[in-house]
Amino acid sequence: MATSTSTAGSDIAAPGIAAADAAGEARFAELLATESRVEPTDWMPAAYRKTLVRQISQHAHSEIIGMQPEGNWITRAPSLKRKAILMAKVQDEAGHGLYLYSAAQTLGIDRETMFDQLLTGKAKYSSIFNYVTPTWADMGSIGWLVDGAAICNQVPLCRASYGPYGRAMVRICKEESFHQRQGFEILLELMRGTPGQREMAQESVNRWYAPALMMFGPPDDDSPNSAQSMAWNIKRFSNDDLRQRFVDMLVPQAEVLGVTLPDPDIRWNEERGHYDFGDLDWDEFHEVLAGRGQANAVRVANRRAAHDEGAWVREAARAYADARATETEGRIAS
Ligand SMILES: [Fe+2]
Ligand SMILES: [Fe+2]
Repeated sequence: MATSTSTAGSDIAAPGIAAADAAGEARFAELLATESRVEPTDWMPAAYRKTLVRQISQHAHSEIIGMQPEGNWITRAPSLKRKAILMAKVQDEAGHGLYLYSAAQTLGIDRETMFDQLLTGKAKYSSIFNYVTPTWADMGSIGWLVDGAAICNQVPLCRASYGPYGRAMVRICKEESFHQRQGFEILLELMRGTPGQREMAQESVNRWYAPALMMFGPPDDDSPNSAQSMAWNIKRFSNDDLRQRFVDMLVPQAEVLGVTLPDPDIRWNEERGHYDFGDLDWDEFHEVLAGRGQANAVRVANRRAAHDEGAWVREAARAYADARATETEGRIAS
């Protein structure tokens, strides 16, 4: 059972963690200075641990909640091929959640506590998954735009200073790039289809474009924790730099697709060597973050129901593991 519902922080310590001492601090500083990995048994500042627990567990929750908007379409995918691909994709997201929960556990928080934080609303997950998916084209837009933004955000995390997080991200990013391509391909097929299909694709891109850009977080001057995360080699690029990188990637891809990005201010800026783009509606971002998005309540309610319905599976798995352990002990004793 959950022993703590507070956001994990300095009050938790993984077994075997070295005591905070001058040598530990010096070693930690050296690891960062030499771009080396910090491993679970290394000494680390309490605030570094707390930041990582929060970031990794939120990331894990996002993967798990993120299964819902697409899970919505598995039974209605337009062909067997699309259904098989979508199922595999949603399953990948479950896997990402599991790698990340495991990475967070190496910092001393247990999985039940993280689940409890998600189910009671104490922990956040990415706001993008609080938007609804009324059309099949949304499967294309999520892959192209949402997984696309996730890749831009996550590729630099492969170099995050905390070893278990960085290594989990390497595998996740490989799968995300497949996700983005499958989304692009759904949209491409729709754009090569009937006028109705083209209209559906464009309408969907219109809805997902701005929320996807907001996935990088608030503008740099409104992102107070970024500097510390960058000093700790967790975050490598600022929110605005990543957003710019994403827009620069999207514009030529939108041209290939034949969709229009819903921002009249997008234009190439020769001087900067980047595309300019318009301001985003940050009031909407804060509304969704505050729980007033299209589907905040239903996402958590679904997750809670799935958790309750899955209780017997967890119990059975635990009973099986216990029986195996007793059996092994019996063999060793005899
Ligand atoms: Fe994922
Ligand atoms: Fe994905």
